Amino acid sequence: MSVELKTKDITIGVIGLGLMGSSIVTSLLISGHRVKGIAPLQEDMEEGPSRICEQLAICGELHLLQHSIKSYLSKLTISENYSELSDCSLVLECVTENIEIKKQVFEKILGVVNSYTIIASNTSANSISELQKFVHHPERFLGIHWAEPAFATRFLEITCGEQTSHSCANWVFELAHHWDKEPTILRKDIRGFITNRLMYAMYREALFLIDKNEVSIEDVDKFFKYDAGSWITLMGIFKRMDFMGLNGYLEIFNTLFPKLCNADDVSRIMQQKVLINARGTQSPEGEGLYKYTAEEVKNWNEAFVLFNQDIYQLAKLYPFRKGEKVTASGILSDSNLYQNLL
Ligand SMILES: NC(=O)c1ccc[n+]([C@@H]2O[C@H](COP(=O)([O-])OP(=O)(O)OC[C@H]3O[C@@H](n4cnc5c(N)ncnc54)[C@H](O)[C@@H]3O)[C@@H](O)[C@H]2O)c1
Repeated sequence: MSVELKTKDITIGVIGLGLMGSSIVTSLLISGHRVKGIAPLQEDMEEGPSRICEQLAICGELHLLQHSIKSYLSKLTISENYSELSDCSLVLECVTENIEIKKQVFEKILGVVNSYTIIASNTSANSISELQKFVHHPERFLGIHWAEPAFATRFLEITCGEQTSHSCANWVFELAHHWDKEPTILRKDIRGFITNRLMYAMYREALFLIDKNEVSIEDVDKFFKYDAGSWITLMGIFKRMDFMGLNGYLEIFNTLFPKLCNADDVSRIMQQKVLINARGTQSPEGEGLYKYTAEEVKNWNEAFVLFNQDIYQLAKLYPFRKGEKVTASGILSDSNLYQNLL
C-alpha cells in the first residue's frame, strides 16, 4: 500500500442504522475508526444501538476484538442530526433502496460535509453514475457495496461512476484492507456490479429449471454446498478451470450455452412467493423457498456468522506453506507432500 493509513485518524459517517448500516458501523469500529452513526428514523435510534452492542459481543466471541466493547463504543456517536458528519473523511449512505429517499439523504449530507469528504452509497440496485449526479463533487462519489454481516464477511465491491476519480477509489481500496476486506474495484459502473451480475445469472438458470420441475430446490442447494462449495473458496472459478484442464470446457460451452435460460421475465415460483409476502427467514411465519421455525431462524443466523469466520480461517491456511500439510483436523504439520506445488 502506498500511503500509511491510520484508521484511528479517519472518522467515518454511516447514514441508516438498519440491517446493513449497523453491521457496517460495527465493522468500522472494530477496525479502529471513530464512527458517526446517523439515525434517519426513530426506529434506528431505538434499535440501532442495541444491535451494534450485540454485534460487538458476537465479534468478541469470534476473537475479532483487541479492546473492550466499552472502548469501541466510546468511539461511536449516534444522532438524528446530520451536522455530526461535519468532520467525516468518508460518509457511507446505507438507507433503503429507493432513489428518491437516497437523493434526500444526499442533500442532507451535502449541507454539512467538507469539500474533501468522500461520499459512498451501499446501493445494490442503483447506478453509481446516476446517483453521483445528485452530489456537488461527483469525482468524490462512489459505490461501496458491503456483504452482510459486514463485520464478519470479507468481500467488498468498490464501484466507480463515470465521474469518480480513480485516486479516490484507490484510497478507499487501500482503506478497505484495514477493514480486513478483500475488496474489488470496478472502474466502470456495470449494472449489478460483480456479485449480482454473477449471482443473478445463476439464480436465473436455477429458477428456470425449478419452474420446469426439472430439478428440486433441495438438489440445487446440494450442488452449491457439496460440489461448488468444496472448491470455490479455495480457487474461484478460473483456477478451477485451469485445474481441470481447459479443453473439456470448450466442447461443453458449445453444446450447453444454447440450452441455458436467457429469459427476461421473472421466474414463476419467485412471483408466487413474493405475492404471498414470503420473505424466508425475514418473515415472522418463516415462509420462504423453505419453511422455518423461529428456532431454526435463530440457528441459521448464528451459523451464518460463525461459518463466515470459519471458512475464512480455513482459506487462510491455503495455498500450502512450504513443508507443511493440512491434516484431517485442519492442523498444519511437517511434510514434503505439497512442496512441489510451490
Ligand atoms: N441487507 C443486505 O444484505 C444488503 C447488502 C448489500 C447492500 N444493501 C443495501 O444497503 C442499503 C440498506 O439496506 P438494509 O438491508 O440495511 O435495509 P434496512 O431496511 O434494514 O434499513 C433501511 C434503512 O433506511 C432508512 N430509511 C428508511 N426510510 C427512510 C427515509 N424515508 N429517509 C431516510 N432513511 C430512511 C432506515 O432508517 C434504515 O436505517 C440498501 O441500499 C440495500 O440495497 C443491503
